[in-house]
Amino acid sequence: MDKIKNKNLLRAAGFVGGEWISRADGGQTFAVDNPENGGKIAEIPAFGADETRRAVAAAAAAFPEWRAKTAKERAAVLHKWRALILQNAEDLARIMTLEQGKPLAESRGETAYGASFLEWFAEEAKRGGGDIVPAPRKNTQVRVTREAAGVAALITPWNFPIAMITRKAAPALAAGCAVVIKPASQTPLCAIAIAALAEEAGVPPGVLNVVCGDAKTIGAELCKNEDVRVLSFTGSTEVGRILAAQCAPGIKKLALELGGNAPFIVFDDADLPRAADQLMVCKFRNAGQTCVCANRIYIQRGVYDEFTALLLARVQKLKVGGGLADGTDIGPLIDNAAAEKAARHAADCREKGAEVLAGGGLHELGGRFFAPTVLGGATDECLPTCEETFAPVAPLYIFDDEEEAVRRANDSIYGLSAYFCSRDIGRIMRVSESLEAGIVGVNEGIISSEVAPFGGVKQSGIGREGGEYGMEEYTEIKYTLLGY
Ligand code: SIN
Repeated sequence: MDKIKNKNLLRAAGFVGGEWISRADGGQTFAVDNPENGGKIAEIPAFGADETRRAVAAAAAAFPEWRAKTAKERAAVLHKWRALILQNAEDLARIMTLEQGKPLAESRGETAYGASFLEWFAEEAKRGGGDIVPAPRKNTQVRVTREAAGVAALITPWNFPIAMITRKAAPALAAGCAVVIKPASQTPLCAIAIAALAEEAGVPPGVLNVVCGDAKTIGAELCKNEDVRVLSFTGSTEVGRILAAQCAPGIKKLALELGGNAPFIVFDDADLPRAADQLMVCKFRNAGQTCVCANRIYIQRGVYDEFTALLLARVQKLKVGGGLADGTDIGPLIDNAAAEKAARHAADCREKGAEVLAGGGLHELGGRFFAPTVLGGATDECLPTCEETFAPVAPLYIFDDEEEAVRRANDSIYGLSAYFCSRDIGRIMRVSESLEAGIVGVNEGIISSEVAPFGGVKQSGIGREGGEYGMEEYTEIKYTLLGY
């Protein structure tokens, strides 16, 4: 933390109604640790239901004035916020690596990715027009407009502690909503830092609030509070189900970006070195801790040995280490539970017949460092077939033909992202249409971008973030019939 130049970014406080609150009502706090060594890096006030209610009330009070601004005025504030994030990018990246563990280069990438949502939605704000629909009767006009939905509660994950906030907050603020952000307890410091920059950018008091603390208590209040009109959550399907149930009595608008179990299919006509390169970034970005990471890798029998050799050559070059160290590719996992889950998945694959081709367990650095792992000849009984691993573990499955690959890829309750590599245009069209996923990468392993809609089908979620579609979650359609 000593190396952070802008000390203004470092606050042990929540942000409510434009005030930085450094003490929870009952004085409770929680510790934030560095995943690299478990050392404490901050102590943050742990808000509960009462502080959350006050944050929602502040947002509700600020909403009418913010909504009444012109889209151009709101866009100017978002542009300024983006510029400040970019000016402070190096500090933000360092804070991210310290609390989240990802390599500094990835933290820099995420900071820029996070800022891109502010630019995109600042521009989209100005395009939120409506429609005049041909009227069914003479002397009437059917007017369709989009209006800000109200207060939006944004519950965000630890794996992308800046980008998952801006991917929600940017469209919400652009649309004219006021927001209450509940960041993950593992990574509140990035949320606090960018909230300080939002304040500096001129986001009015109460329009953006941050509450840190126990997820269950805060989540329950956000779900039941009648002033919250939209709840947007990124995280596990398990928690998404609970939040959806808690929101049901109040019929809130829901946007859920939940778990995935992405298949990555390598067909025998693929450009194999390219497929291996794309799988590396898809599988090992953020040490495998993204909900769009390849979780099940299906390789056509005829190219299995060749592709596996290409993959292993690349995996052997990965450098595991602390996120701030030069050249690190794979940082520590977020907590001990994540490392235990990775070990459980690898062990389960081994027990069910898979061969350990690389790694297989904790890295020699110990702690939360997990060795990049490749498991050959995985079977459908292995845990990653049905459960997201969220770690640098790559199980390789063999398949014989296209029908089998698609059937096994779709045999999942999840449908966030799916990937395949092929050079046959007919196959590319057939398979991209057949895969049950909200996002399909063809010969590409990184699909994330501010310009494209991100979201899943089946139990991977509801709604889309990013692109022109991202605004829909924060607006309501109004139809006005004008008689004259
Ligand atoms: C996620 O893992 O939830 C998001 C990943 C991304 O935006 O690339």
